[in-house]
Amino acid sequence: MKNINPTTTNAWKELEHHYKKIQNEHMRDMFRNDERRADRFTIQWEDFYVDYSKNRITEDTRSLLLQLAEECHLKEAINSYFGGEAINQTENRPVLHTALRADKNADIKVEGENVVPEVQEVKARIKDFSNDIIGGTRKGYTGEAFTDVVNIGIGGSDLGPVMVTESLKFYKNHLNVHFISNVDGDHVHETIKNLNPETTLFLIVSKTFTTMETLSNATTVREWFLKSVPEKEVSKHFVAVSTNLQKVENFGIDPKNIFPMWDWVGGRFSLWSAVGLSISLAIGYDNFESLLEGARKMDDHFKETSFEENIPVQLALISIWYNNFFGAESEAVIPYSQYLDKFPSYLQQAIMESNGKSVDRNGEKVEYQTGTIIWGEPGTNSQHAFFQLIHQGTKLIPTDFIGFKYSLFNDKSHQDKLMANYFAQTEALLNGKTEEEVQGELKFKALSQEEIDRIKAFKVFKGNNPTNTILIEKLTPESMGKLISLYEHKIFVQGIIWNIFSYDQWGVELGKQLANKILAEFSTETVDNHDSSTKNLLKFYLS
Ligand code: F6P
Repeated sequence: MKNINPTTTNAWKELEHHYKKIQNEHMRDMFRNDERRADRFTIQWEDFYVDYSKNRITEDTRSLLLQLAEECHLKEAINSYFGGEAINQTENRPVLHTALRADKNADIKVEGENVVPEVQEVKARIKDFSNDIIGGTRKGYTGEAFTDVVNIGIGGSDLGPVMVTESLKFYKNHLNVHFISNVDGDHVHETIKNLNPETTLFLIVSKTFTTMETLSNATTVREWFLKSVPEKEVSKHFVAVSTNLQKVENFGIDPKNIFPMWDWVGGRFSLWSAVGLSISLAIGYDNFESLLEGARKMDDHFKETSFEENIPVQLALISIWYNNFFGAESEAVIPYSQYLDKFPSYLQQAIMESNGKSVDRNGEKVEYQTGTIIWGEPGTNSQHAFFQLIHQGTKLIPTDFIGFKYSLFNDKSHQDKLMANYFAQTEALLNGKTEEEVQGELKFKALSQEEIDRIKAFKVFKGNNPTNTILIEKLTPESMGKLISLYEHKIFVQGIIWNIFSYDQWGVELGKQLANKILAEFSTETVDNHDSSTKNLLKFYLS
């Protein structure tokens, strides 16, 4: 991988000039002056219709952004990524979540060994295990079939699985799946309070098996279990997913119940591995396989399609355009599907833990903006919550609108209302409402000119707010796989161009270290070695 400061490229300099030229152009005029604009800025691929024409871009912007990608050697970087080179250089690891969904005949080498057969072996185990639990042939210690599954994990060992099981709830079977992540004791106790140990299966998911939250929750659950069940039965009810096999065994889990994962899969990209066991249990292995298949199709699209027609590349470049030239700090992601309720929070970890970096790949401090702040909630709920700020606030918030042509329960009346809002919002954000339009409306309502003059400024919408419309045929395991993979590759493209390492997360370590230090201080009640604010707070807590 070449480490190029993007601001030193010709494309960047030209983009700066270009920005000055078009920064005040209104998209309303861009559409008025070009009837074919929507066609020229839309990518149709499989069941995805991605319209990025409602952005403050011209053909020149697109060419310059594509030139930026070329000058940053994006193509070579993609080959290094898929080829298993150790692109996570600060941890000296490849980044191969794509190998988890690769074709079974693929040959992807890590240190000279093809990892695909091993991946296939683990997938076969996930399949057998899921079928046995769902089918009731693998039972709890009293011979009863399992009714409940509890995933204990945090960050990537929780957010991906919980987001996908929620998103694909429609495809769920009879198993009740629960998630415990927070070290807040109320989370674990609230979850287990109505569970029956005889019919509950626990999945302890931790890549490192050193995470305080997960180990504390697992210990609490194990103690709760042992209150009513003999220790020898633990092996029937506890399963683990980890790279740290020794630590899992030390915890008391039967080695037969350990599903391995690999250090070449980042936690926040691990839902495709055995970390996704809860997904496979919730929706069945065949659906889990379709999820992987969808992701693989998006991988192929990303790898093989020209940048011009490449969905992750285009969305990544447009986001850089706003982040680095317009100074936009955040992006909203609004799924028009209640099932995708957790998608924005999943993306927060995927995007912000990956690209929230301020040191470049040469070890130098960056002098340009990197990772965007991600937030969002499903539409239409969000329209009645924070859309006011997107429409009329002072900040520029590029927004992705994700919607589906067909609903799952086929309630056409609801779907039409939902989608009418989906389309209306992007149109309103684009066009806004001019003073003349407001004036006309108020006149029509027979308001006096004095009243109109008093109120009109508040009713004007400047518009010109950028959106991407991602319209998908239907929410299925396969389309969900494609959607997640799209954002994964968008993260990669941005990391390459920003010249940062997207696959480490040193920034979360400091808080962890200090929490352990403070925890130790609680037992001795010595809280001296802190700033005065923290010291006072600790004293108040301990008093
Ligand atoms: O928050 C930091 C982090 O390392 C995440 O990247 C990771 O997904 C999470 O903690 C959980 O880690 P583990 O799976 O090792 O318990």
